[in-house]
Parts: sequence; structure tokens; C-alpha cells
Amino acid sequence: MSSKPLVEAISIKKYYEVEHPRTGKNAFLKAVDNVSISIKQTETYGLVGESGSGKTTLGRILALLEKPTSGKLIYDGFDLSSTNKSLDYRKIRREIQIVFQDPYSSLHPRKKIVDIVGEPLLIHEKLSREQIENEVAKILEIVGLKQEHMYRYPHEFSGGQRQRIALARALILKPKFLVLDEPTSALDVSVQARILNLLKDIKDRTNMTYFFISHNIAVIDYMSDRIGVMYLGKIVEEASRNDLIYRPLHPYTKYLLMSVPIPDPEKARAPNRKKLRLKGEIPSPIDPPKGCRFVTRCPFATDKCMREEPVLEETNGRRVACHYWEKIEKEFPIELSWSEF
Ligand SMILES: Nc1ncnc2c1ncn2[C@@H]1O[C@H](COP(=O)(O)OP(=O)(O)OP(=O)(O)O)[C@@H](O)[C@H]1O
Ligand SMILES: [Mg+2]
Repeated sequence: MSSKPLVEAISIKKYYEVEHPRTGKNAFLKAVDNVSISIKQTETYGLVGESGSGKTTLGRILALLEKPTSGKLIYDGFDLSSTNKSLDYRKIRREIQIVFQDPYSSLHPRKKIVDIVGEPLLIHEKLSREQIENEVAKILEIVGLKQEHMYRYPHEFSGGQRQRIALARALILKPKFLVLDEPTSALDVSVQARILNLLKDIKDRTNMTYFFISHNIAVIDYMSDRIGVMYLGKIVEEASRNDLIYRPLHPYTKYLLMSVPIPDPEKARAPNRKKLRLKGEIPSPIDPPKGCRFVTRCPFATDKCMREEPVLEETNGRRVACHYWEKIEKEFPIELSWSEF
């Protein structure tokens, strides 16, 4: 795998102006708050975190569907915030595609599959009807659908098939970078597995780079080369898949891993699992806690955590934002990773 970055996001912030639910005054909801990540060519970068942590917002910014409030995006070496005339935005736009979570609302209900899947070709390339049908037939086969499906409408397909159609549409321009925002979360487990394998299979056959979003750490583990953990608008830990799954450093990552249900009750009672019960709910991104964002839920929090925000520090080729990760690691090694069961 090349280590050259394809996508670099530097200090990205996305603040939404909203009405404060208590005071009724204008307030800022900090959906993404100072995130810097670098996604290498041909890797799958997995982003995991609870609902509301800002995953979709970050994914939409990387897919160029939304502009950040501040920060810089560098794509394939080009600074997208610059006004450089030589920058070919059209070309870059077609190289970046996205697949959304909901296969029911993402496809136009009154258009035939050939028109839905072929539309990007119509916009970006001047092809004849026959050429478009040929291209659509090829891509339908790649995603496991039949050529004759192209003359049908979305309502004639199951959720899994619709997600294959959405994927075909995203792939038809042969993108370099694909953002996958919970692409299987709305599907039955057995269908989910088939779509995940299809995504892996397609990636093995191309040189695409994936940014794969899920709230499910088991899915992220299965798909990713590198993993970022997001909490309340911030990346709190980032490491290679192996390091993150087998040696998580941040208490939130440990919690996510320990929360995966395991079938063996004996092992499920391992003493360290109990210690990692979190307090309360994820706070609102309108009034995030001062200091460490995780402070209200962390079983290891001290006064320092309430006062000082930990920086996302680099250590051994990975990053973690916790004042006490070394101490916690000594006193609280993770005994069993769920994936060893
Ligand atoms: N257009 C918007 N206007 C105001 N607030 C928004 C907007 N879009 C997202 N938010 C808020 O930003 C925060 C992050 O939302 P986001 O959808 O990115 O989270 P997520 O991690 O994808 O969650 P989920 O797992 O539920 O999909 C949430 O508090 C959400 O309510
Ligand atoms: Mg989301």
C-alpha cells in the first residue's frame, strides 16, 4: 500500500448556527471540531463513533457535498480551498463519490435504474444512449445485478439490491475516492455481510480509496486498514486496524470494543469489562464539556480532565487524545478483545 495521502483534512471545523434548545438564543452546534486526518492512497480508513458524533458531517465534507466552516482540504496534492485557476474541480468532483445509508431515499422513485445509474455519465460525458446502456450493463454486473434490471424502477428491488444500485451509480465514473456512510446499517445482517464482501471485492480489483463510516466497530474492524474513533466532533484515537482492535489506548475505544456482545457468559464477565461502563449519555455538541469532551462519561476522569483538553498526541505511529492513556494502559490492560472469541 502506498503511504502517499490521497485526502488530507487539516483542522476541519463545521459549526451549524442553531437555536439553543434551552435559551432560545442563537448558538453554534460544533458538529466537527478541529479534525485533521490523512487518508492514504488505496487504504480503507474506517471512522467509528456513536450517533451524533459528527461522522456524516465529516464524510459529507470529504465528499465535497458541504463546505467546512474552516480548515483545509487537500485532495491528491491540490489544495481545494485555493483559488488556483489550474485546479480542475470538475475532474476532482467526478473522482470523489459517496454512498449513503438509506437505500430507500437515495434513489429517485420515478426513474428507471438505467437513468439513475447512468445519470453521472450523462452529466460528465457526452455518450450516446447505447453507450450509456452498455456502461450501465457492465457496472450492474460488477455489483451483482442483472442487465435486464436496468429497465425497472427502484420500488421493484429489495434494500440490499437498492444499495447495489446506489453503489453502481457511485462507481460508474470510476472514482478514486469513495465515501461510504453506513452503507449497510439499514440492511438485514445477512444482506449486510454480502454487501460488505462486495465492497471489499470491488476494492481489491481497483485502486480505490475508501472512507468507511459506521457506528458498529465490528463492521469497521472487518473493513478497515486504519481506524479513527470520533467522539462529539473530535477524533479521540486513530491507529492501524490491528493496533486499535488489539491494543486500544483511549478509554472510549476500549468501551466501544468491550460493548460488542459476546456469546460466552463466562468471558463476558471478565472483570475489566465491568469497569468500562460509561456514565450518562453523549452530551450535546451545542454545549460540549470543557476540558476533555469525554470527561462526563469517563470512568477515569480527574479534575485535570475537566480543565485541560488533551491534544491528539502522536505515539508509535498512532494518535490518542487522553491525559492518562499510559497510566490506564498499565492499570487496565484490555484482557480480551471481542474479536478473539
Ligand atoms: N444541517 C444541520 N444543521 C444543524 N445541525 C446539524 C446539521 N447536520 C448535522 N447536525 C448536527 O451535527 C451533529 C453531528 O451529526 P452527524 O449526522 O454528522 O452525526 P453522525 O455521527 O453521522 O450520527 P449518526 O450515527 O446518527 O448518523 C448532530 O448533533 C446533528 O444533529
Ligand atoms: Mg451519520
